Amino acid sequence: MAHEMSGEELRRYREQRGMNQQALVGWLNERLNRRYDRAKISRWETGAERIPQIVAGALKTATEPVGIPAAAAVRAAPVVFCAANQKGGVAKTTTCVNVAWLLAQSGRRVLLIDCDPQANATVHLGVDPHERELAKGTLTHALKASRPMREFMTPVCDGAFDLLPSSISLAATDRELLRQPNGTLILRAKIAQLAGQYDFVVLDCPPHLGELTVSVLNAADQLLIPTQTEMLSMMGIPQLFETIAGVRELVNPRLQILGILPTMYSPRRLQDETVMKELRELAAAEQLHLFSPVKRAADYSKSVMAGRPGLAYNPNSAGAESYREIADALLALAGEEMRHGA
Ligand SMILES: Nc1ncnc2c1ncn2[C@@H]1O[C@H](COP(=O)(O)OP(=O)(O)OP(=O)(O)O)[C@@H](O)[C@H]1O
Ligand SMILES: [Mg+2]
Repeated sequence: MAHEMSGEELRRYREQRGMNQQALVGWLNERLNRRYDRAKISRWETGAERIPQIVAGALKTATEPVGIPAAAAVRAAPVVFCAANQKGGVAKTTTCVNVAWLLAQSGRRVLLIDCDPQANATVHLGVDPHERELAKGTLTHALKASRPMREFMTPVCDGAFDLLPSSISLAATDRELLRQPNGTLILRAKIAQLAGQYDFVVLDCPPHLGELTVSVLNAADQLLIPTQTEMLSMMGIPQLFETIAGVRELVNPRLQILGILPTMYSPRRLQDETVMKELRELAAAEQLHLFSPVKRAADYSKSVMAGRPGLAYNPNSAGAESYREIADALLALAGEEMRHGA
């Protein structure tokens, strides 16, 4: 029997199942042993290319739920991941952008929220913070408005995932809105609105323990602590532990530390080796996972100019394995929560 499907039908079919184009690619390639890519799905959906009968047939006759392990459909609330360390320049933003990219590459629906008034993640993903400010489409506006969160987002990396951008106006929001009673719970309440829309929400923090970072910790399930392999970056970690303990006790008992990620590691430098040894001791004492260190690589700063995550720019950059370890840990946790009906 011949199966036909129009582009519009395909798009509706995909969206009704909460899948992005990458997720559909994964499903089709696995079932049909093909090597379709996202651009192909776009061409089908816009009508630029006819949808092959084998694809229409596979979708129309599928007996199992079409979707990435049906996670999206079953687990209503997204896993909320953040990277925090009050020390500046330790690769928090680089980590968030690359982890978001890897999660999206595995077919999950991902939103990155830039919670830093410096708007580095926004710029890194090729979005102009000034333009977004003029269009009232930033986190500042989303926190203040009663309109749905999705109205403030913009797709990045050719639609691989969504970004809720930041701009400098977030600095004033930090001072005004978030310091009101319960102000540091607004972000958490806004993220709760996203149930069913995303599998992962990634939050990029500013480099200090102000109201924005506390708002992020109040909202997060999993916290990663990136630290450069130099003495000063490690020094803030005990203070961060204290803040985390307070957040867990008073507001967010779900908050877990996913681990510590050493960054910008140069194995030949004595200082880096010394700090790695101290990090191993700290991780053992606190019973925390220590991820493999991300080595120094020019790709990460070059990719900022290209407006793309380093691993989209060069999937084999030094440190790719460490970022994959983190993405895999999050994917495993999301799977586990589903099994336990969280
Ligand atoms: N593995 C790496 N090797 C070399 N440079 C890196 C690496 N990771 C990140 N960088 C670069 O280091 C700089 C700081 O990184 P990033 O902006 O991610 O840090 P951050 O912790 O978010 O900073 P801030 O505290 O200002 O928000 C950037 O220029 C980034 O491109
Ligand atoms: Mg940053």
